[in-house]
Amino acid sequence: MKKIAILGSTGSIGRQCTQVIDSLPAEFQVVSLAAGSNISLVAEQVEKYHPQLVSVGTEAGARELCSTLKKNRTSKSSAHSDPEILFGAEGIERIATHSDVELVISAAVGVVGLPATYKAIEQGKSIALANKEVLVAAGEIVMAAVKRHNVALLPVDSEHNAIHQCLRAGQRSEVKRLVLTASGGPFRNTPIAKMNKATPQQALAHPNWKMGNRITIDSATLMNKGFEVIEACWLFDVGLDQIQVVIHPQSTIHSMVEFVDGSILAQLGATDMRMPIRYALTYPERAPSNDCALDWSTLRKLEFDEVPTRKFPCLALAKAALKQGGPLPCALNAADEIAVAAFLGGTLSFPGIAAVIEGVLERMPRCAFNKIDDVLAADAQARRLAREEAGRRKN
Ligand SMILES: NC(=O)c1ccc[n+]([C@@H]2O[C@H](COP(=O)([O-])OP(=O)(O)OC[C@H]3O[C@@H](n4cnc5c(N)ncnc54)[C@H](OP(=O)(O)O)[C@@H]3O)[C@@H](O)[C@H]2O)c1
Repeated sequence: MKKIAILGSTGSIGRQCTQVIDSLPAEFQVVSLAAGSNISLVAEQVEKYHPQLVSVGTEAGARELCSTLKKNRTSKSSAHSDPEILFGAEGIERIATHSDVELVISAAVGVVGLPATYKAIEQGKSIALANKEVLVAAGEIVMAAVKRHNVALLPVDSEHNAIHQCLRAGQRSEVKRLVLTASGGPFRNTPIAKMNKATPQQALAHPNWKMGNRITIDSATLMNKGFEVIEACWLFDVGLDQIQVVIHPQSTIHSMVEFVDGSILAQLGATDMRMPIRYALTYPERAPSNDCALDWSTLRKLEFDEVPTRKFPCLALAKAALKQGGPLPCALNAADEIAVAAFLGGTLSFPGIAAVIEGVLERMPRCAFNKIDDVLAADAQARRLAREEAGRRKN
Protein backbone atom coordinates (compact mmCIF):
# COMPACT_ATOMS: atom_id res chain seq x y z
CA MET A 1 0.00 0.00 0.00
CA LYS A 2 1.36 3.40 -0.99
CA LYS A 3 1.02 5.90 1.85
CA ILE A 4 -0.05 9.27 0.56
CA ALA A 5 -0.67 12.88 1.48
CA ILE A 6 -3.04 15.06 -0.57
CA LEU A 7 -2.47 18.83 -0.61
CA GLY A 8 -5.66 20.45 -1.92
CA SER A 9 -7.90 17.42 -1.28
CA THR A 10 -11.13 19.42 -1.71
CA GLY A 11 -10.27 20.92 -5.10
CA SER A 12 -11.04 19.71 -8.59
CA ILE A 13 -7.83 17.65 -8.77
CA GLY A 14 -8.03 16.63 -5.10
CA ARG A 15 -11.56 15.24 -5.50
CA GLN A 16 -10.61 13.35 -8.67
CA CYS A 17 -7.62 11.95 -6.76
CA THR A 18 -9.94 10.54 -4.14
CA GLN A 19 -12.02 8.95 -6.94
CA VAL A 20 -8.89 7.25 -8.27
CA ILE A 21 -8.00 6.09 -4.76
CA ASP A 22 -11.56 4.75 -4.32
CA SER A 23 -11.17 2.76 -7.54
CA LEU A 24 -7.95 1.16 -6.23
CA PRO A 25 -8.76 0.55 -2.55
CA ALA A 26 -5.97 -1.98 -2.00
CA GLU A 27 -3.28 0.33 -3.38
CA PHE A 28 -3.39 3.48 -1.24
CA GLN A 29 -3.63 4.61 2.34
CA VAL A 30 -4.37 8.29 2.99
CA VAL A 31 -2.08 9.42 5.81
CA SER A 32 -2.77 13.15 5.69
CA LEU A 33 -4.95 15.74 3.96
CA ALA A 34 -4.67 19.51 3.48
CA ALA A 35 -7.44 21.79 2.25
CA GLY A 36 -8.35 25.47 2.39
CA SER A 37 -11.83 26.55 3.43
CA ASN A 38 -14.22 23.76 2.34
CA ILE A 39 -14.67 22.39 5.87
CA SER A 40 -17.75 20.27 5.21
CA LEU A 41 -16.02 18.36 2.39
CA VAL A 42 -12.81 17.88 4.33
CA ALA A 43 -14.90 16.54 7.25
CA GLU A 44 -16.48 13.98 4.89
CA GLN A 45 -13.03 13.02 3.63
CA VAL A 46 -11.77 12.56 7.20
CA GLU A 47 -14.70 10.27 7.96
CA LYS A 48 -14.07 8.25 4.81
CA TYR A 49 -10.25 7.97 4.77
CA HIS A 50 -9.36 8.28 8.48
CA PRO A 51 -6.11 10.23 7.99
CA GLN A 52 -3.78 10.76 10.94
CA LEU A 53 -3.35 14.48 10.21
CA VAL A 54 -5.54 17.14 8.57
CA SER A 55 -4.81 20.77 7.90
CA VAL A 56 -7.07 23.61 6.73
CA GLY A 57 -6.38 27.22 5.74
CA THR A 58 -7.11 29.09 8.98
CA GLU A 59 -7.39 28.64 12.74
CA ALA A 60 -11.14 29.38 12.57
CA GLY A 61 -11.47 26.65 9.92
CA ALA A 62 -9.60 24.22 12.17
CA ARG A 63 -12.01 24.98 15.06
CA GLU A 64 -14.99 24.48 12.75
CA LEU A 65 -13.59 21.16 11.51
CA CYS A 66 -12.99 20.04 15.07
CA SER A 67 -16.57 20.76 16.13
CA THR A 68 -18.04 19.22 12.92
CA LEU A 69 -16.11 16.00 13.54
CA LYS A 70 -17.19 15.98 17.20
CA LYS A 71 -20.85 16.48 16.26
CA ASN A 72 -20.68 13.67 13.68
CA ARG A 73 -18.90 11.45 16.20
CA THR A 74 -21.71 11.76 18.76
CA SER A 75 -24.35 10.92 16.12
CA LYS A 76 -22.44 7.88 14.72
CA SER A 77 -20.22 5.44 16.55
CA SER A 78 -16.78 5.14 15.00
CA ALA A 79 -13.87 2.82 15.72
CA HIS A 80 -11.44 5.48 14.47
CA SER A 81 -9.95 8.25 16.57
CA ASP A 82 -10.12 11.85 15.31
CA PRO A 83 -7.05 13.07 13.42
CA GLU A 84 -4.73 15.79 14.67
CA ILE A 85 -6.06 19.04 13.20
CA LEU A 86 -3.67 21.76 12.02
CA PHE A 87 -3.95 24.97 10.02
CA GLY A 88 -2.03 27.49 7.93
CA ALA A 89 1.45 27.30 6.43
CA GLU A 90 2.85 25.14 9.22
CA GLY A 91 -0.13 22.80 8.97
CA ILE A 92 0.22 22.12 5.23
CA GLU A 93 3.98 21.55 5.67
CA ARG A 94 3.35 18.93 8.35
CA ILE A 95 0.82 17.22 6.06
CA ALA A 96 3.45 16.90 3.33
CA THR A 97 6.28 15.79 5.61
CA HIS A 98 4.59 13.28 7.94
CA SER A 99 7.11 10.47 8.43
CA ASP A 100 4.71 7.79 7.12
CA VAL A 101 4.02 9.60 3.83
CA GLU A 102 5.73 8.13 0.74
CA LEU A 103 3.94 10.05 -2.04
CA VAL A 104 2.67 13.63 -1.86
CA ILE A 105 -0.06 14.66 -4.30
CA SER A 106 0.61 18.37 -4.65
CA ALA A 107 -2.75 19.78 -5.82
CA ALA A 108 -3.31 22.99 -3.88
CA VAL A 109 -3.72 26.07 -6.06
CA GLY A 110 -1.06 28.80 -6.08
CA VAL A 111 2.23 29.23 -4.21
CA VAL A 112 0.53 28.19 -0.96
CA GLY A 113 1.60 24.63 -1.88
CA LEU A 114 5.23 25.53 -2.66
CA PRO A 115 6.98 25.40 0.75
CA ALA A 116 5.23 22.15 1.69
CA THR A 117 6.06 20.50 -1.64
CA TYR A 118 9.67 21.68 -1.36
CA LYS A 119 10.04 20.32 2.19
CA ALA A 120 8.59 16.96 1.06
CA ILE A 121 11.20 16.82 -1.74
CA GLU A 122 13.94 17.57 0.79
CA GLN A 123 12.72 14.58 2.79
CA GLY A 124 12.97 12.34 -0.29
CA LYS A 125 9.22 11.82 -0.78
CA SER A 126 7.87 11.10 -4.26
CA ILE A 127 5.72 13.90 -5.69
CA ALA A 128 2.72 13.75 -8.02
CA LEU A 129 2.65 17.37 -9.16
CA ALA A 130 -0.55 19.10 -10.28
CA ASN A 131 0.24 22.43 -8.58
CA LYS A 132 2.06 23.95 -11.57
CA GLU A 133 2.75 27.20 -9.70
CA VAL A 134 5.45 25.27 -7.77
CA LEU A 135 7.58 25.02 -10.93
CA VAL A 136 6.50 28.32 -12.45
CA ALA A 137 7.48 30.31 -9.35
CA ALA A 138 10.52 28.33 -8.25
CA GLY A 139 11.49 25.88 -11.03
CA GLU A 140 15.26 26.18 -10.69
CA ILE A 141 15.25 25.85 -6.88
CA VAL A 142 12.75 22.98 -6.86
CA MET A 143 14.46 21.00 -9.64
CA ALA A 144 17.84 21.37 -7.94
CA ALA A 145 16.29 19.83 -4.80
CA VAL A 146 14.67 17.05 -6.88
CA LYS A 147 18.12 16.16 -8.30
CA ARG A 148 19.90 16.51 -4.94
CA HIS A 149 17.46 14.15 -3.22
CA ASN A 150 16.92 11.88 -6.23
CA VAL A 151 13.16 12.24 -5.93
CA ALA A 152 10.54 10.99 -8.41
CA LEU A 153 8.56 14.02 -9.66
CA LEU A 154 5.58 12.81 -11.68
CA PRO A 155 3.53 15.32 -13.66
CA VAL A 156 -0.25 15.27 -13.24
CA ASP A 157 -0.93 18.15 -15.64
CA SER A 158 -2.34 16.29 -18.67
CA GLU A 159 0.12 17.82 -21.17
CA HIS A 160 3.22 17.00 -19.14
CA ASN A 161 1.82 13.64 -18.21
CA ALA A 162 1.39 12.95 -21.95
CA ILE A 163 4.99 14.00 -22.62
CA HIS A 164 6.21 11.84 -19.73
CA GLN A 165 4.46 8.87 -21.36
CA CYS A 166 5.79 9.63 -24.87
CA LEU A 167 9.35 10.08 -23.59
CA ARG A 168 9.38 6.47 -22.45
CA ALA A 169 9.72 5.57 -26.16
CA GLY A 170 13.21 7.01 -26.67
CA GLN A 171 16.40 8.49 -25.26
CA ARG A 172 16.52 12.12 -24.11
CA SER A 173 19.28 12.79 -26.69
CA GLU A 174 16.83 11.67 -29.41
CA VAL A 175 14.22 14.34 -28.57
CA LYS A 176 13.92 17.20 -31.04
CA ARG A 177 11.03 19.06 -29.48
CA LEU A 178 7.99 18.86 -27.26
CA VAL A 179 4.65 19.88 -28.72
CA LEU A 180 2.15 21.16 -26.15
CA THR A 181 -1.46 21.20 -27.30
CA ALA A 182 -3.85 23.97 -26.25
CA SER A 183 -7.61 23.88 -26.73
CA GLY A 184 -7.70 27.63 -27.38
CA GLY A 185 -10.30 28.01 -24.62
CA PRO A 186 -13.72 29.64 -24.91
CA PHE A 187 -12.44 32.63 -26.93
CA ARG A 188 -10.68 30.68 -29.68
CA ASN A 189 -13.12 32.02 -32.28
CA THR A 190 -13.85 35.41 -30.68
CA PRO A 191 -12.58 38.37 -32.74
CA ILE A 192 -9.82 40.31 -31.01
CA ALA A 193 -11.95 43.50 -31.09
CA LYS A 194 -14.56 41.82 -28.87
CA MET A 195 -12.16 40.57 -26.22
CA ASN A 196 -12.66 43.60 -23.96
CA LYS A 197 -16.33 42.60 -23.60
CA ALA A 198 -15.52 39.07 -22.38
CA THR A 199 -17.31 38.31 -19.10
CA PRO A 200 -16.23 36.02 -16.22
CA GLN A 201 -19.18 33.76 -17.01
CA GLN A 202 -18.01 33.33 -20.63
CA ALA A 203 -14.39 32.87 -19.57
CA LEU A 204 -15.36 30.19 -17.04
CA ALA A 205 -17.16 28.13 -19.70
CA HIS A 206 -14.21 26.00 -20.84
CA PRO A 207 -15.21 23.93 -23.88
CA ASN A 208 -13.44 20.70 -22.85
CA TRP A 209 -12.34 20.60 -19.20
CA LYS A 210 -14.04 21.16 -15.84
CA MET A 211 -11.42 22.66 -13.53
CA GLY A 212 -10.95 25.13 -10.68
CA ASN A 213 -11.72 28.80 -11.40
CA ARG A 214 -8.18 30.11 -11.61
CA ILE A 215 -6.89 27.54 -14.11
CA THR A 216 -10.08 27.94 -16.16
CA ILE A 217 -9.49 31.70 -16.55
CA ASP A 218 -5.80 30.99 -17.21
CA SER A 219 -6.93 28.66 -20.00
CA ALA A 220 -9.09 31.42 -21.48
CA THR A 221 -6.14 33.88 -21.55
CA LEU A 222 -3.68 31.11 -22.55
CA MET A 223 -1.58 32.02 -19.51
CA ASN A 224 -2.13 28.42 -18.50
CA LYS A 225 -0.23 27.39 -21.63
CA GLY A 226 2.49 29.89 -20.73
CA PHE A 227 2.76 28.30 -17.28
CA GLU A 228 2.88 24.89 -18.93
CA VAL A 229 5.73 25.97 -21.21
CA ILE A 230 7.71 27.04 -18.14
CA GLU A 231 6.75 23.83 -16.30
CA ALA A 232 7.85 21.71 -19.31
CA CYS A 233 11.23 23.47 -19.53
CA TRP A 234 11.96 22.57 -15.90
CA LEU A 235 10.43 19.10 -15.83
CA PHE A 236 12.06 17.85 -19.02
CA ASP A 237 15.23 19.98 -19.01
CA VAL A 238 14.64 21.55 -22.43
CA GLY A 239 15.01 25.12 -23.67
CA LEU A 240 12.20 27.38 -24.89
CA ASP A 241 13.34 26.77 -28.47
CA GLN A 242 12.50 23.07 -28.05
CA ILE A 243 8.87 23.70 -27.16
CA GLN A 244 6.10 24.38 -29.63
CA VAL A 245 2.50 25.20 -28.70
CA VAL A 246 -0.27 24.29 -31.15
CA ILE A 247 -4.00 24.90 -30.89
CA HIS A 248 -5.90 21.60 -30.91
CA PRO A 249 -9.55 22.36 -30.14
CA GLN A 250 -10.61 18.77 -29.36
CA SER A 251 -8.01 18.32 -26.55
CA THR A 252 -7.86 14.63 -27.53
CA ILE A 253 -4.11 14.68 -28.13
CA HIS A 254 -2.81 15.74 -24.76
CA SER A 255 0.66 16.54 -26.09
CA MET A 256 3.41 15.12 -28.30
CA VAL A 257 7.14 14.47 -28.54
CA GLU A 258 8.97 14.88 -31.82
CA PHE A 259 12.17 12.83 -32.10
CA VAL A 260 15.26 13.71 -34.15
CA ASP A 261 14.28 11.36 -37.00
CA GLY A 262 11.01 13.26 -37.51
CA SER A 263 8.88 10.62 -35.81
CA ILE A 264 6.21 12.12 -33.55
CA LEU A 265 4.59 10.29 -30.66
CA ALA A 266 1.29 11.59 -29.32
CA GLN A 267 -0.65 10.55 -26.23
CA LEU A 268 -4.42 10.54 -26.74
CA GLY A 269 -7.26 10.08 -24.34
CA ALA A 270 -10.55 11.36 -23.04
CA THR A 271 -10.56 14.79 -21.39
CA ASP A 272 -10.62 13.27 -17.93
CA MET A 273 -7.98 14.17 -15.33
CA ARG A 274 -8.43 10.85 -13.58
CA MET A 275 -6.25 9.30 -16.29
CA PRO A 276 -3.08 11.38 -15.66
CA ILE A 277 -3.77 11.21 -11.91
CA ARG A 278 -3.98 7.42 -12.03
CA TYR A 279 -0.79 7.26 -14.14
CA ALA A 280 1.14 9.43 -11.66
CA LEU A 281 -0.16 7.56 -8.62
CA THR A 282 0.55 4.07 -9.94
CA TYR A 283 3.75 4.77 -11.96
CA PRO A 284 5.75 2.78 -13.10
CA GLU A 285 2.80 0.41 -13.40
CA ARG A 286 -0.51 1.03 -15.17
CA ALA A 287 -3.68 0.24 -13.28
CA PRO A 288 -6.58 -1.14 -15.34
CA SER A 289 -9.59 1.17 -15.60
CA ASN A 290 -12.60 1.69 -17.84
CA ASP A 291 -13.72 5.06 -16.52
CA CYS A 292 -11.67 7.21 -18.93
CA ALA A 293 -12.26 5.39 -22.22
CA LEU A 294 -12.09 7.50 -25.37
CA ASP A 295 -15.34 7.33 -27.32
CA TRP A 296 -14.21 6.84 -30.93
CA SER A 297 -17.79 7.06 -32.18
CA THR A 298 -17.99 10.74 -31.19
CA LEU A 299 -14.46 11.63 -32.30
CA ARG A 300 -14.87 12.96 -35.82
CA LYS A 301 -11.74 15.01 -36.37
CA LEU A 302 -8.46 16.20 -34.92
CA GLU A 303 -7.74 19.83 -35.86
CA PHE A 304 -4.61 21.93 -35.38
CA ASP A 305 -3.93 25.63 -35.73
CA GLU A 306 -1.33 28.25 -34.89
CA VAL A 307 -1.70 30.27 -31.68
CA PRO A 308 -3.09 33.75 -32.42
CA THR A 309 -0.41 35.43 -30.32
CA ARG A 310 -1.77 38.99 -30.64
CA LYS A 311 -5.11 37.93 -29.20
CA PHE A 312 -3.48 36.00 -26.35
CA PRO A 313 -0.48 38.08 -25.16
CA CYS A 314 -0.12 36.07 -21.93
CA LEU A 315 1.74 33.26 -23.69
CA ALA A 316 4.49 35.66 -24.86
CA LEU A 317 4.61 37.27 -21.40
CA ALA A 318 5.27 33.87 -19.84
CA LYS A 319 8.06 33.06 -22.30
CA ALA A 320 9.63 36.49 -21.75
CA ALA A 321 9.51 36.02 -17.96
CA LEU A 322 11.23 32.64 -18.24
CA LYS A 323 13.93 34.09 -20.54
CA GLN A 324 14.66 36.87 -18.06
CA GLY A 325 14.64 34.42 -15.17
CA GLY A 326 15.28 35.28 -11.51
CA PRO A 327 12.09 36.44 -9.78
CA LEU A 328 10.19 37.19 -13.02
CA PRO A 329 8.38 33.86 -13.51
CA CYS A 330 7.39 34.05 -9.84
CA ALA A 331 6.11 37.61 -10.39
CA LEU A 332 4.27 36.42 -13.51
CA ASN A 333 2.37 33.86 -11.46
CA ALA A 334 1.61 36.20 -8.54
CA ALA A 335 0.46 39.01 -10.84
CA ASP A 336 -1.72 36.60 -12.77
CA GLU A 337 -3.39 35.37 -9.58
CA ILE A 338 -4.26 38.92 -8.51
CA ALA A 339 -5.38 39.93 -12.01
CA VAL A 340 -7.57 36.84 -12.41
CA ALA A 341 -9.21 37.54 -9.03
CA ALA A 342 -9.88 41.16 -10.09
CA PHE A 343 -11.38 39.96 -13.38
CA LEU A 344 -13.60 37.44 -11.58
CA GLY A 345 -14.59 40.17 -9.13
CA GLY A 346 -15.74 42.36 -12.02
CA THR A 347 -13.18 45.15 -11.48
CA LEU A 348 -10.82 44.33 -14.38
CA SER A 349 -11.49 43.68 -18.05
CA PHE A 350 -10.33 40.47 -19.72
CA PRO A 351 -7.50 42.23 -21.66
CA GLY A 352 -6.69 43.97 -18.35
CA ILE A 353 -5.31 40.66 -17.03
CA ALA A 354 -2.39 40.72 -19.47
CA ALA A 355 -1.93 44.48 -18.96
CA VAL A 356 -1.60 44.07 -15.18
CA ILE A 357 0.93 41.25 -15.61
CA GLU A 358 2.97 43.24 -18.14
CA GLY A 359 3.00 46.23 -15.77
CA VAL A 360 4.24 44.06 -12.90
CA LEU A 361 6.97 42.39 -14.99
CA GLU A 362 8.25 45.84 -16.04
CA ARG A 363 8.36 47.11 -12.45
CA MET A 364 9.58 43.99 -10.66
CA PRO A 365 12.98 44.61 -9.05
CA ARG A 366 15.82 42.09 -9.56
CA CYS A 367 15.88 40.79 -5.97
CA ALA A 368 17.86 37.82 -4.60
CA PHE A 369 16.35 34.56 -5.74
CA ASN A 370 18.17 31.53 -4.34
CA LYS A 371 15.94 29.95 -1.73
CA ILE A 372 12.25 29.39 -0.99
CA ASP A 373 12.10 32.44 1.32
CA ASP A 374 13.32 34.59 -1.61
CA VAL A 375 10.50 33.16 -3.72
CA LEU A 376 7.91 33.99 -1.07
CA ALA A 377 9.31 37.55 -0.72
CA ALA A 378 9.24 38.07 -4.51
CA ASP A 379 5.71 36.65 -4.60
CA ALA A 380 4.54 39.14 -1.94
CA GLN A 381 6.26 42.04 -3.72
CA ALA A 382 4.69 41.11 -7.09
CA ARG A 383 1.25 40.85 -5.46
CA ARG A 384 1.63 44.40 -4.08
CA LEU A 385 2.58 45.70 -7.51
CA ALA A 386 -0.25 43.77 -9.14
CA ARG A 387 -2.82 45.28 -6.75
CA GLU A 388 -1.56 48.74 -7.74
CA GLU A 389 -1.67 47.90 -11.45
CA ALA A 390 -5.16 46.40 -11.15
CA GLY A 391 -6.32 49.44 -9.10
CA ARG A 392 -5.12 51.81 -11.86
CA ARG A 393 -7.06 49.86 -14.46
CA LYS A 394 -10.25 49.40 -12.41
CA ASN A 395 -13.42 49.15 -14.55
N1 LIG B 1 -8.33 21.09 -12.37
C1 LIG B 1 -7.59 20.58 -13.33
O1 LIG B 1 -8.10 19.88 -14.21
C2 LIG B 1 -6.10 20.85 -13.37
C3 LIG B 1 -5.35 20.34 -14.44
C4 LIG B 1 -3.98 20.54 -14.43
C5 LIG B 1 -3.35 21.21 -13.41
N2 LIG B 1 -4.10 21.72 -12.40
C6 LIG B 1 -3.42 22.46 -11.33
O2 LIG B 1 -3.71 21.81 -10.09
C7 LIG B 1 -3.80 22.77 -9.05
C8 LIG B 1 -5.18 22.65 -8.40
O3 LIG B 1 -6.15 23.01 -9.36
P1 LIG B 1 -7.69 22.79 -9.13
O4 LIG B 1 -8.34 23.03 -10.43
O5 LIG B 1 -7.90 21.50 -8.42
O6 LIG B 1 -8.01 24.02 -8.15
P2 LIG B 1 -9.26 24.21 -7.19
O7 LIG B 1 -10.39 23.38 -7.61
O8 LIG B 1 -9.42 25.66 -7.04
O9 LIG B 1 -8.71 23.60 -5.81
C9 LIG B 1 -7.67 24.19 -5.09
C10 LIG B 1 -7.37 23.41 -3.85
O10 LIG B 1 -6.39 24.13 -3.08
C11 LIG B 1 -6.90 24.23 -1.76
N3 LIG B 1 -6.36 25.37 -1.03
C12 LIG B 1 -6.61 26.68 -1.23
N4 LIG B 1 -5.99 27.42 -0.28
C13 LIG B 1 -5.34 26.53 0.52
C14 LIG B 1 -4.54 26.66 1.68
N5 LIG B 1 -4.27 27.86 2.22
N6 LIG B 1 -4.02 25.54 2.25
C15 LIG B 1 -4.29 24.33 1.71
N7 LIG B 1 -5.06 24.14 0.61
C16 LIG B 1 -5.57 25.24 0.03
C17 LIG B 1 -8.41 24.35 -1.93
O11 LIG B 1 -9.08 24.13 -0.72
P3 LIG B 1 -10.61 24.64 -0.47
O12 LIG B 1 -11.38 24.30 -1.70
O13 LIG B 1 -10.99 23.80 0.72
O14 LIG B 1 -10.56 26.09 -0.16
C18 LIG B 1 -8.59 23.24 -2.94
O15 LIG B 1 -8.53 21.99 -2.31
C19 LIG B 1 -3.55 24.13 -9.70
O16 LIG B 1 -2.20 24.45 -9.58
C20 LIG B 1 -3.90 23.90 -11.16
O17 LIG B 1 -3.19 24.76 -12.02
C21 LIG B 1 -5.46 21.55 -12.35
